[in-house]
Amino acid sequence: MESLRIIALAVVVAVSVAACPASEPPPAAAPSPTPPEVAAPEPSPTAAAPDRAPRKRPPRPPRPTTPVSSGVVDPPRAPDLGFEGSPPAVVERMLEVAEVGPDDVVYDLGSGDGRVVIAAARRGARAVGVEIDPELVRASRAAVAAAGLEDRVTIAQRDMFTVDLADATVVTLYLIPALNDRLRGQLSRLPAGARVVAHDFGFSELAPAATFDATPPSTPGAPPPRPHAILLYRAPLPPAGD
Ligand SMILES: C[S@@+](CC[C@H](N)C(=O)[O-])C[C@H]1O[C@@H](n2cnc3c(N)ncnc32)[C@H](O)[C@@H]1O
Repeated sequence: MESLRIIALAVVVAVSVAACPASEPPPAAAPSPTPPEVAAPEPSPTAAAPDRAPRKRPPRPPRPTTPVSSGVVDPPRAPDLGFEGSPPAVVERMLEVAEVGPDDVVYDLGSGDGRVVIAAARRGARAVGVEIDPELVRASRAAVAAAGLEDRVTIAQRDMFTVDLADATVVTLYLIPALNDRLRGQLSRLPAGARVVAHDFGFSELAPAATFDATPPSTPGAPPPRPHAILLYRAPLPPAGD
């Protein structure tokens, strides 16, 4: 009797093992009424997923409006040249000669009281004034604010010889030839199509593409105006020595 029970038990065990292979998954659990959200696995960068829409990149932060920080000159140093403003009629003529419009980024190197950058912004351009004299920086920032042009004009308190002009389409200068010459390296990296307009003084070894007379008309009874000239150069400008 006992041996019969053992045999019967062995048969039952053998049958149940045969009906339940090791590779078969365990029975599924009853679905939960609120299944937890499972994050999709990160796709491998090398895995091909042709039928899946490409993952969107997170939006990039907007580009700063100007590559120059408003910064300070450290250590402070004296200007290479004193301030003398270009007469308003000459400023307008410089911007006209350079065909400044809303697509332009105008840099005035040695921007003084801000008159050139303000006039450029009034033509719709974005403008950067680079000025080393802290008093003129303060005065020109105030003038920009008074004109309501802070969204389009930056006054950078910087030494102009350290400024990257990569995004400039127009550069204006009212400096002496020796200073213009020292800017040749920076100006040689201007993008093709950029214009450089210089008031009265150009470069010692570079002929302008065109020269314009910008002498204001004489006023009866007033002393005759001194002559003014505007010199136009077009990028690419060769670096000095080429
Ligand atoms: C003749 S003013 C021209 C002002 C203005 N661009 C205009 O046409 O009316 C020259 C300006 O260059 C500034 N300056 C001189 N050396 C400088 C330098 N290394 N970096 C920046 N500005 C400088 C002077 O302070 C001055 O305001």
